[in-house]
Amino acid sequence: MTGSTARPWRDAWQDALYGPDGFYRRPEGPAGHFTTSTQGPLGVVFAEAIATLADREGCDLVVDVGAGRGELLGQLAVLRPDLRLMGVDIVDRPADLPDAVDWLVSPGGPSLPAELKGLVGALVVAHEWLDVVPCTIAEVDRDDVLREVLVDSGGVESLGGPVTGWELDWVNRWWGDRGPGDRLEIGDTRDDAWEDLVGRVDQGTLVAIDYAQAGHGGQSEDTFTAYRNGVQTAAVPDGSCDLTAHVMIDSLVHDDAIHQADVLRRLGIRATTPDHALSLADPAAYLRGLIRASAVTELADPRGLGAFVWAIVRVPGN
Ligand SMILES: C[S@@+](CC[C@H](N)C(=O)[O-])C[C@H]1O[C@@H](n2cnc3c(N)ncnc32)[C@H](O)[C@@H]1O
Repeated sequence: MTGSTARPWRDAWQDALYGPDGFYRRPEGPAGHFTTSTQGPLGVVFAEAIATLADREGCDLVVDVGAGRGELLGQLAVLRPDLRLMGVDIVDRPADLPDAVDWLVSPGGPSLPAELKGLVGALVVAHEWLDVVPCTIAEVDRDDVLREVLVDSGGVESLGGPVTGWELDWVNRWWGDRGPGDRLEIGDTRDDAWEDLVGRVDQGTLVAIDYAQAGHGGQSEDTFTAYRNGVQTAAVPDGSCDLTAHVMIDSLVHDDAIHQADVLRRLGIRATTPDHALSLADPAAYLRGLIRASAVTELADPRGLGAFVWAIVRVPGN
């Protein structure tokens, strides 16, 4: 099916996720379509990791940017009622959030709310935010010219003009080798969005946690794709599916970039199987221990969630 006039994927992607009928405004929220580390038993351990990091960084406020429906904040409110908590997402404050959690409504994609500024003593967490910040999709044509990919509302693609200027500079600096037929994701919009967020912290620590593009000297790959109801699907910018592409962590401003498996180890979060004797003394605690150990194993799996990268920035303040 062909639809409206073709336009850059970057613009169609922004409207499809954050426009009036955007995917992320749907009542079921992201958790209705895919599982992340913030949900269920994984979320309990993930919240423990974030709280431990907040303590190590001397932060008493956790700000969750791209908070979904507040899944991580809900876990933190139970685990650590002493922490101040704030969520930022494009929808109104979810009704079932604990009273202690503050909430800011954001425009979405690369734009953040004006009120989000001057943060002090804050650990700012952006878990799977940057991969849904739209960026330019480009393709190398038969003559080896890198062109912007356009799309119509039915998802039919065509090639637009050559990529030039700072976008081409970004590709030459960060992307690996390319040749005819290759598709690229030009992550400068993510770099800018992240830098904007860093600029809103007067003192504290920021961590972007996401699927990483190869970077680190490896070969970058085409990762732009779509998900609907947990299943990978054709990318159509009609608000019916998530649209995502891995994040080039190397190009983000950062002090450290560490795989999640190593972060968990450094934070002392280990998959310790509870002592079998506990199964008789306190079966419920034994079961909780088993569930926790299995969640830690999944979060640290180097072929799965453990390969996520935590890009960390520290803002020392004056
Ligand atoms: C992939 S979901 C991740 C949700 C949650 N962090 C998790 O890991 O379960 C991305 C979230 O980022 C939100 N988002 C996108 N752009 C945003 C922005 N500029 N400000 C705040 N939230 C944003 C979306 O609305 C969506 O809830």
